[in-house]
Amino acid sequence: MTGSWRLFLLCGLLQGAGCQTGTNKVLFATNVMPAIGSCVTVPCHFTLEKRFEEDLIPECKPIWRKGNKGPVLPNLTKESTGGMSVTFRGNLTAYDCTTTFYNVDNGSYYFRLECPNKLQWNFVDEPLTIQFKGDLPAPLLTHPKEQVVEGTLVELGCSAPSPCHPHPTIVTWTPTLGLSTQLQRDNEVTSTLTFTASHRYHGNNVSCTAIYFKQSQGKNVTISRSYQLSISFSPRNTSVSGSPCHPAREGGCLNLTCTSHANPPVSEFTWYRIHGERILQIGNGSALSIQLFNTNNWFFCEVLNGIGTEKSNVYKIDIQGIYSTCWQKSLSNDHQIRFF
Ligand SMILES: *[C@@H]1O[C@H](CO)[C@@H](O)[C@H](O)[C@H]1NC(C)=O
Ligand SMILES: *[C@@H]1O[C@H](CO)[C@@H](O)[C@H](O)[C@H]1NC(C)=O
Ligand SMILES: *[C@@H]1O[C@H](CO)[C@@H](O)[C@H](O)[C@H]1NC(C)=O
Ligand SMILES: *[C@@H]1O[C@H](CO)[C@@H](O)[C@H](O)[C@H]1NC(C)=O
Ligand SMILES: *[C@@H]1O[C@H](CO)[C@@H](O)[C@H](O)[C@H]1NC(C)=O
Ligand SMILES: *[C@@H]1O[C@H](CO)[C@@H](O)[C@H](O)[C@H]1NC(C)=O
Ligand SMILES: *[C@@H]1O[C@H](CO)[C@@H](O)[C@H](O)[C@H]1NC(C)=O
Ligand SMILES: *[C@@H]1O[C@H](CO)[C@@H](O)[C@H](O)[C@H]1NC(C)=O
Repeated sequence: MTGSWRLFLLCGLLQGAGCQTGTNKVLFATNVMPAIGSCVTVPCHFTLEKRFEEDLIPECKPIWRKGNKGPVLPNLTKESTGGMSVTFRGNLTAYDCTTTFYNVDNGSYYFRLECPNKLQWNFVDEPLTIQFKGDLPAPLLTHPKEQVVEGTLVELGCSAPSPCHPHPTIVTWTPTLGLSTQLQRDNEVTSTLTFTASHRYHGNNVSCTAIYFKQSQGKNVTISRSYQLSISFSPRNTSVSGSPCHPAREGGCLNLTCTSHANPPVSEFTWYRIHGERILQIGNGSALSIQLFNTNNWFFCEVLNGIGTEKSNVYKIDIQGIYSTCWQKSLSNDHQIRFF
């Protein structure tokens, strides 16, 4: 379809230079296929034999009929909700016969020029074929082929047909994650949403909604399509929790667990004990079982995925030799467990 549109646009621009072939011809997108229920605006351009050129005057009238000898479609300035009609949008003296068709059905439509002089011409050789196809389609959503890394710019595209000039299709995004720009081109509307990938959006769904005007029903119809964002990010919220044997005493056991939120998931966990000024590496893996000392019971983990690393909070456990059956696990950030 775009090919014919280009031809049309080119001829519109070059009118009088290249496309003025010296024959009576009408040109448009040859195969107009709007969705059922939509009105349709057809860009249209014509050429004339030399002998008719000066007969093309502002008083000429554009006529559209269904079938070669069929009924003339009323030319209305406002669309009617009833029968077939057209609204002429072109400028005849500029060889432009662009027209919007309302309530028409499948068939061939013929253009005629009727001037108050010898220019009375039926363009019988080039009928406009309108063939309705399917219902209004869901918008087409385009997204990155691969997972995007946090901090990079993401571009999502959404396009939908916009076949009827006075009622352009509107495309919207929810949620509005960033800037969107809308472009109306040929008989299609495209919206581009641009935003910076953040770990906060991972797994969220972004929808694109097309608002179509369904002319046969005189109302808007909305159709959405959504896409689940997949964003890779470095580890976040890395934290250590511990569960000591009871009672917690020197030589007793302590199980440590390191958790982190990362995409892709953490591939390496490394455990450290803080020993005075020194930091000792004491193990690997998301869980670690160790023996308690009476000093230096300070631990943290460090995690790594393909994107980055993060260190956890420091986990401290006090064993002061005064035990009680009552112990308390604090939910504060440093996960202290004290025994009274
Ligand atoms: C159709 O409408 C256009 C725009 O309103 C007008 O210029 C043209 O003369 C009309 N044609 C007829 C046949 O009524
Ligand atoms: C129609 O086209 C003619 C010739 O190009 C131009 O002079 C005229 O201003 C146009 N009329 C309108 C309403 O655009
Ligand atoms: C037009 O033709 C298509 C495909 O042949 C068909 O699905 C559709 O119902 C027809 N529409 C009308 C308005 O006749
Ligand atoms: C996004 O959509 C998918 C598939 O429809 C669903 O499984 C998932 O729960 C949705 N995610 C959110 C955050 O709503
Ligand atoms: C259809 O939606 C457009 C854009 O949101 C709005 O301007 C128009 O009034 C709506 N038309 C109807 C019939 O609801
Ligand atoms: C980290 O925790 C905070 C507070 O609970 C939460 O808002 C945030 O979404 C978490 N981040 C990740 C990547 O899970
Ligand atoms: C520590 O982990 C080991 C092995 O997973 C388990 O047998 C033991 O019961 C755990 N101890 C505590 C106090 O959670
Ligand atoms: C942890 O794993 C690395 C590589 O797999 C290994 O070099 C290191 O010795 C391990 N550390 C401990 C304390 O087990």
